[in-house]
Formats: sequence, structure tokens, C-alpha cells
Amino acid sequence: MSDNVIIFDTTLRDGEQSPGCSMTTPEKLKIAEALVELGVDVIEAGFPIASPGDFEAVRAVAQRFGDRARICGLARCRREDIERAGEALRGVAKSRIHVFLATSPIHRQFKLKMAEQEIVKAAVEHVKLARSLCEDVEFSPEDAARTELDFLVEVVEKAIEAGATTVNIPDTVGYATPTHYFKVISHLKQHVSNINRAIISTHCHNDLGLAVANSLAAVEAGARQIECTINGLGERAGNAALEEIVMALKTRHDYYGVETNIHTPKLCGLSRLVSSTTGMLVQRNKAIVGQNAFAHEAGIHQDGVLKERTTYEIMRAEDVGFVGANLVLGKHSGRHAIRSRVIELGYQLPDAQLQQVYDDFIALADKKKNVYDADIVALIDNRMNVTVDRWKLIRFHIAAGTGTIPTATVELRDESAAATSAGSTTGDVSVATYRDAAIGDGPVDAVCKAMERIVGISAELKDYQVRAVSGGEDAQGEASVEIVYQGRRYHGKAVSTDVIEASALAYLKALNKAISEQPTSTPAHGV
Ligand code: KIV
Ligand code: ZN
Repeated sequence: MSDNVIIFDTTLRDGEQSPGCSMTTPEKLKIAEALVELGVDVIEAGFPIASPGDFEAVRAVAQRFGDRARICGLARCRREDIERAGEALRGVAKSRIHVFLATSPIHRQFKLKMAEQEIVKAAVEHVKLARSLCEDVEFSPEDAARTELDFLVEVVEKAIEAGATTVNIPDTVGYATPTHYFKVISHLKQHVSNINRAIISTHCHNDLGLAVANSLAAVEAGARQIECTINGLGERAGNAALEEIVMALKTRHDYYGVETNIHTPKLCGLSRLVSSTTGMLVQRNKAIVGQNAFAHEAGIHQDGVLKERTTYEIMRAEDVGFVGANLVLGKHSGRHAIRSRVIELGYQLPDAQLQQVYDDFIALADKKKNVYDADIVALIDNRMNVTVDRWKLIRFHIAAGTGTIPTATVELRDESAAATSAGSTTGDVSVATYRDAAIGDGPVDAVCKAMERIVGISAELKDYQVRAVSGGEDAQGEASVEIVYQGRRYHGKAVSTDVIEASALAYLKALNKAISEQPTSTPAHGV
């Protein structure tokens, strides 16, 4: 049996199915690029039949990266799904069509209303169709962990016979436990006569918090592909977290004896990229990539680590690209020092972006005595944003305090109108500047309402969080908001030494995303 475990990342497909985590094509391309650099073997880029946007994203990712990683498109057992996936992947050097059909009794009876033999027939027919379009075909009996073992053996065997090169055994609802899942995989290895002609894959959801443990148990039983997502993003409680699986296999190589192609120092950077793109914050004590993952509070631990690191640390922070709270640079640090630090932190920025980060750094160092690694990372994340925002915050003023009515005045610029005006003969950008005022429950609420009056939409705030990026009294605040507009969720994130400004910028970012999906309209109010 091979000692290499294939890492199949589904952040862009199953991860994106997480509420509020939908991503634009440029955002998906940015994450796909980082996944390629991380060394993942397969990237599931989307579900091409789901929407024209999904189709475009799979096509764009496949065209750009299909020579460096295998790009996969998902399809139900339906002709039109499979043909659409084939179209999205056409001409790509390394591609895969992933066909799925539920097999558990609950799904057969209530969802599909199909008998066992109808399921087998449909699976065989559609795997064959997929194979006629693509050399590499994965088949998933959805809800496999709740499927009768005998029937699972039959479906898997027939799917391999029909041409499936990978058979994935999904625990769709996160029902399995490690020994149970180990037994399912072992049973398939023993009873599927042609199992050696396919790779066994795992796909575990985290409803009982066991997705990583189940995936590792499957590797012990002989699975050689693991499906996972960055930060464990995914439906409901999420999927198995890629960073946890990879570091478990690496740290316990003595036990598992298998390798992956993952370049682990890139893990934390990618975790931050996915978090800032989706707005899904990473909990502080999250294994591997959380802020506290390498922090020792207890004196006895600190003492032990100082004497010998391995007394209380099983992994080295640098092996996962962890960024601590080191004091790095000050106001007088030059461009060269910033460039070196950015590279040490694991980023490669084009010159223009590096210049922007440097300018932001100088502005920050003017307001803040100590600039930490985490501050630099926040500035980079801010500049790595790949969407173009229509509305820009120029200035705001608030009046708030005990016994006063919180009031805000705001000035925004409509960048699209400014661009048109700049191209006109008058070139007067002030025509694109709008001001308005509002009162609110507090200063943040007042600023948000004033901005909504200008841009002409009113959204519902679903989530709002502020956290300090680094330590110290002058720490930057990172605001993260989630809004709902016309039934869709949008998030925004921003940093500033002023938390009201960070909140306003984050809210405006979310409004910009909502507006970008609307037909062009003129602002409701403005002077
Ligand atoms: O959870 C699941 O069963 C899936 C399949 C499409 C593999 O995501
Ligand atoms: Zn899934």
C-alpha cells in the first residue's frame, strides 16, 4: 500500500456551502493559488451545474491551475450535471469529475424514492458517462456511514467496475465515530473484490466533533485520500480540518508512517486568507492555527519550555507558519525591513502591493508605538482583498456620550462615478462625493445608518465582532460584520487603531459586496 496520502481540499466547494461563506471567482482564484502553493493534490473547485458563477469559477481555477494540481468538479448522478462538469474541465491537463449518489436507507426512502438496484444502475451508468469525459473519476455513495455494509460493498464494487478511480466514503451527517469508521473502511478493503483498482477516500463532517479523528482512523484502515477544508470550513459544523489532519500525520509519523505533499509552513497564512475571505473567524484556541495554539500561560509550562521546548510543545510554531506577538518594527524601519518581514511571514507580494503595505505601515507606525507581526499580517490581509469596492469612506464624524443622541455624519465617494467623471472632459471627482447624517443606538450604529442612507440600501446586521489584533493599549481593532440583504449574507472585515473606523469600514465592505450583486442604481441621498 502506498505511504502517500492524497490531500483533497474542498474549501471552495463544501467549505463554500457554509452559510455566509460564498466567494467570488477572484476570491476563489486567490485561494486556489494558495492551495497550489501549499501543495494540495486535488482541489474541488465547485459544483458546475449549481449556477453560472460556480461553472465560471471551476473553469477559471482549472484553466489557471490545472497543470499544477488536479482540479475537480462535483456532479450529481444526472447527465446534465456530468456534462456541465466535463465542459468546465475540458482541455485541462489534470482534472477529475466527482459523481455522487446517496445510498443510505433514509436517503433512498425519503429523498430519492429509489430502490437499491435502481441506485446501483444509476451509479454505474453515470460513472461510465463521467469516464467517457474524464480519465479520473471519483464516486461517492453519499451518507455512506449510515448505509448497510453489504449494500455499500455492492455499490462501491460496481462503481469501480464502471470506471471509478477513487471511491469516497462520506460521513455526510457526521454520524460516525473513529472505531466505527475504521470498521467500515476495513470491511470495504476486505469485501470489495476490485478495491485494489481504486483509491479509498474519506470525507468526514464534524457534527460530533470527530471529523479529524474519523479521517485518521480511516487512514489506519487503508484510506489514501482525505477530503478536508482549511479551518474545517463546511456545511453545519464543517468538514475535517486540513491543517489538523496534516499536522497529525506529520507529528505522529512514528505511528501512521505516511507522507503528504503539504508544505506546512504555509498553513497559518492560508488559514488567515480563508478567514478574511469568508469572514469566518478562527477561534483563539483552534488547534494548529488559533492565536493561542502556541501560547503558554502557566508558569510551570513556560519554565519547562525555556529549559527544553519539547517538554510542552509537540510541534514547532515555525513548522506551521505561526505568527506570534513579536515586536518587529517601528516608525523608522525602512522599506527593506518591511519587505524582509513580509517574506519571513510567508507572503510574496507584487511590488505595487508591497508599496501599499509599506505606506499603510508608515501610517500605522505614526499612530501606534509598537508594530507587531500580527499588525503587519492584518495590513497585508487588508491589501490582499481582491474585490473592487464601489463606495469608499472618505471621512466621518460622530457625536456620542452619556445623555446625548449618538449622531454620525459621513462622507463617501462613489468610485465608479469618480472613474467616469475622471474620464470626462471636466474631470471633477467631487461630483462623486456624497454626505449624509443619521442617528443610531450607538456611534457605530449611527455611522452604519448614515452610510446606508448614502448608498441607498438597508441591510440587517446579523453578526458584529471586534477583537484586538495584537497586544498593548494601542492595539489595532479588527471588526468583522455579517449582514443580510435580500436574503443573502455578506461579510466584511477591516482593521484600524480606531474601532469605530474599523467597524464602519467593515460594514461598508459588506454593503459593497451586496451592491456589487445589484443592478446599477443611483444613490438615494447625497449632497
Ligand atoms: O458530505 C457529503 O456527502 C458530500 C458529498 C457530495 C461527497 O459533500
Ligand atoms: Zn460534504
